[in-house]
Amino acid sequence: KFTLPLAGKKILVTAGPTREALDPIRFFSNQSSGKMGYAIAEAAGEAGADVTLISGPSALSDPSGISVIRVTSADEMRREVLARYEHADAVIKAAAVADYRPESVSGSKIKKADGPLLVKMVRNPDILMELGRIKKSQLLVGFAAETEQLEDNARAKLEKKHLDLLIANHAADGFAKDTNKVTFFFADGHQKAYGEMPKKEIAEKICRTVSELMETSGQ
Ligand code: C5P
Repeated sequence: KFTLPLAGKKILVTAGPTREALDPIRFFSNQSSGKMGYAIAEAAGEAGADVTLISGPSALSDPSGISVIRVTSADEMRREVLARYEHADAVIKAAAVADYRPESVSGSKIKKADGPLLVKMVRNPDILMELGRIKKSQLLVGFAAETEQLEDNARAKLEKKHLDLLIANHAADGFAKDTNKVTFFFADGHQKAYGEMPKKEIAEKICRTVSELMETSGQ
C-alpha cells in the first residue's frame, strides 16, 4: 500500500520574523520573508503531515490545507509553540526570532527630541533552546544564518540546543530570496552541503530528511 512519507505525523513549523514593539507605531524586526518556513509547511503538508504553521508577520498568503497561526512578537510565538509542543512529532524552527526586544514599550508615541534616543534592549527567550531542554521524543530542526564561521557556529548551535538537524547558510545567500545554498548538520556529526537550490526543493529535502530521521529513531 502506498503511504506518504509524513502521513500521520504532527509537525509544527515556524516562519517569518518577529516584531518587537517600541511604542504603538514602531518596532524592531529583521529581513526574514517567511519564504523558507512557508515552503517547508507546504512540503510537509504534501508529504501527508498534519501541519501547523506559526508565522510572524509575513506578506505571504496562508498555504492551503494547513492551519496557520499568526503571531507578532517572540513572546507570542513562544506561547503558541509551547502550547502544541507536547503532541508534536517534529518542530521545524525556520522563524528568525528576534534575539532582543526593547526593555519597555511606551504606551504613547515617543516624540522626537534634539538629542539621541537611547533604547535598552533585553534578551528574548530562546524558544528552540527551551524546546531542546524539555524535549521527549520530538525531532528538533533549527536554522542558522551566519555571516562568518558558518560551520563552527552551526555545530555549536546544534549541540547547545539539542537539535537533531540544523540547516545553515551564509546570510547573504538566503534572506528574502527564492533560493538558498544550505548545509545540513546532523547530531551524529556528519554534514551534507548543497549547491544553490529553490527554497521549494530545499523544503522537500528537509521533509525527506525528517521522515528518514524519524524512521531511524523508531518514531
Ligand atoms: O538565534 P539563533 O541563530 O541561535 O537561531 C537559531 C535557531 O533558533 C533558529 O531555528 C531560530 O528559529 C531559533 N530561535 C528561537 N528563538 C530565539 C532565537 C532563535 O527559537 N529567540
